[in-house]
Amino acid sequence: MISIKTPREIELLRVAGEIVGDTHKYLIPFIKPGITTKELDDLAHKYIISRGATPSFKGYEGYPGSICTSVNEEVVHGIPGHRKLRDGDIISIDIGACYKGYHGDSAWTYTVGQVDKEILELMQHTEESLFAGLSVVKEGAHIGDIGYAVSEVAKKYHLGVVKELVGHGVGSHLHEMPDVPNYGKQGTGPVLKAGMVIAVEPMLNLGTPNIYILDDDWTIITADDKPSAHFEHTILVTKDGYEILTKR
Ligand code: MF3
Ligand code: CO
Repeated sequence: MISIKTPREIELLRVAGEIVGDTHKYLIPFIKPGITTKELDDLAHKYIISRGATPSFKGYEGYPGSICTSVNEEVVHGIPGHRKLRDGDIISIDIGACYKGYHGDSAWTYTVGQVDKEILELMQHTEESLFAGLSVVKEGAHIGDIGYAVSEVAKKYHLGVVKELVGHGVGSHLHEMPDVPNYGKQGTGPVLKAGMVIAVEPMLNLGTPNIYILDDDWTIITADDKPSAHFEHTILVTKDGYEILTKR
């Protein structure tokens, strides 16, 4: 069952999404060589609390951080720690906030100092694939239309689409039905209706789409250690399109 949110729920999801977007904006000036991922986590934690929300990820299935910080070949779910960012790195920061019981979820990949052109393009093209996926969203579209649109962009730029991890419904739970894969066939999968809220989150790799999981049981790494980018928005499906809830 995919829930249709009530107007009251949508209002709370808008606030949660706004807090997530604002947390991203708050962190941007701190994303510089020398800062540790734990320092970014502490800043995000304090900021989310200051807005009257709680970090959705902390304690989720035992996850230890408030945000996920995935550097270079780390795809997603990197645990904040003592790693210092270095000039030329990229970092995917995934943030969830829960406001009065409703969640917002958004990830973005950032540069640290001067980044190689090939890696900058990976980031640009992954962001493009997110917006391509969103562009097909409206009442009556299928979940498979989103994945198809995302993967066509990946194909155009010869990037690897991570298949093991998917987007999801969002509401009073961080992860709800339906799954939102970053691949698919047009006209297949669940049909979208106005009032559904979903997170679309392509993860694209410069090399192989294959991944593995580190011994910490969280951090997902590319199998060839090449960089990966991740862009995610939580959106509300409307009659003729969508509204981004995690605006930044
Ligand atoms: N945005 C990620 C997701 O939708 C965040 C999950 S991290 C976790 O899966 F710690 F909460 F699991
Ligand atoms: Co998500």
